Amino acid sequence: MLAIEILGLEKTYSVGFWRKRPKHALRPLRLAVEEGEIFGFLGPNGAGKTTTLKLLMGLVFPTSGSARILGKEWTDPAVKAQIGFLPEQPYFYDYLTARELLEYYGQLSGMSEKERGPKVEAMLGRVGLHDVGGVQLRKFSKGMLQRVGIAQAILHDPKVVFLDEPMSGLDPMGRREVRDLIEQLKREGKTVFFSTHILSDAEALCDRVAIIHLGELRGVGAVAELTSSIHGKVEIVWQGTHVPESLKNLGECHVTGDTVRAVIAEENQEVAVEALRREKLRLVSLVPVRASLEDYFVQKLKQVDKMQGVIA
Ligand SMILES: Nc1ncnc2c1ncn2[C@@H]1O[C@H](COP(=O)(O)OP(=O)(O)O)[C@@H](O)[C@H]1O
Ligand SMILES: [Mg+2]
Repeated sequence: MLAIEILGLEKTYSVGFWRKRPKHALRPLRLAVEEGEIFGFLGPNGAGKTTTLKLLMGLVFPTSGSARILGKEWTDPAVKAQIGFLPEQPYFYDYLTARELLEYYGQLSGMSEKERGPKVEAMLGRVGLHDVGGVQLRKFSKGMLQRVGIAQAILHDPKVVFLDEPMSGLDPMGRREVRDLIEQLKREGKTVFFSTHILSDAEALCDRVAIIHLGELRGVGAVAELTSSIHGKVEIVWQGTHVPESLKNLGECHVTGDTVRAVIAEENQEVAVEALRREKLRLVSLVPVRASLEDYFVQKLKQVDKMQGVIA
């Protein structure tokens, strides 16, 4: 079954005071997420990520379109019990302790008092806050608050978890902890849909990603699939310090120790190998250069900017 189906959701805000003009925060978006997937929703600031999540949570009304979550209409109250949400900048009442806050969220989701106590304790342990469960939230660091936020999102054991920028503002250790938590959720069979502008985190975690820019979807797929589509470069290494003339024009050649390394376009690979053979230079390796998600991302955003450049 599909966990999330976004069926042309669109949001246009009306901005300006005297002269209202439309602001297309999200162009009609179609997207499907399988059950059990970790799905990354990537885009720079202002791309429309939070708007999409708010629409899915029913926090803002769409201009048009709809969505289905776990096979049900997204506005169906039965859906709410099965989903968890971490907002982008969660605000919690400063003078509550982590334990009190989770108790409160447990009450909201209809847990009995007997059920609540052990669940809250287990959750505090799970997010590494057991020792500070009795400390007021105003004394918490950003990373600790983020963990409280995740704890409230998963306390009621939802099937689908939505996280808006769960790693932003965290140090590398904090990001690692959040990543581990997301991986654990996947192992429990849950679906995780999270937005981020930190590409390395998405690359390490996601089964599939979608890239959105200026409210428009620019690409969807498995990370390996997307990055392989922009390959086209190979790294070639040979022994010696000599660089054949014909190779100098193909790409930058670096001499290190007793080998030379050059990165050239894939289509010039044959020419390069032939040149080495002619000069009796021994080939050490020839490997495709793996593009990163960042390369793909930058390429996709550039395409949009170019198009806008033409229009302007
Ligand atoms: N309530 C609002 N009124 C007007 N414009 C908005 C509102 N919320 C968001 N926007 C605009 O919509 C665009 C997308 O915003 P957002 O979804 O927050 O992006 P992201 O989360 O990807 O950074 C931005 O240009 C933002 O300024
Ligand atoms: Mg946002």
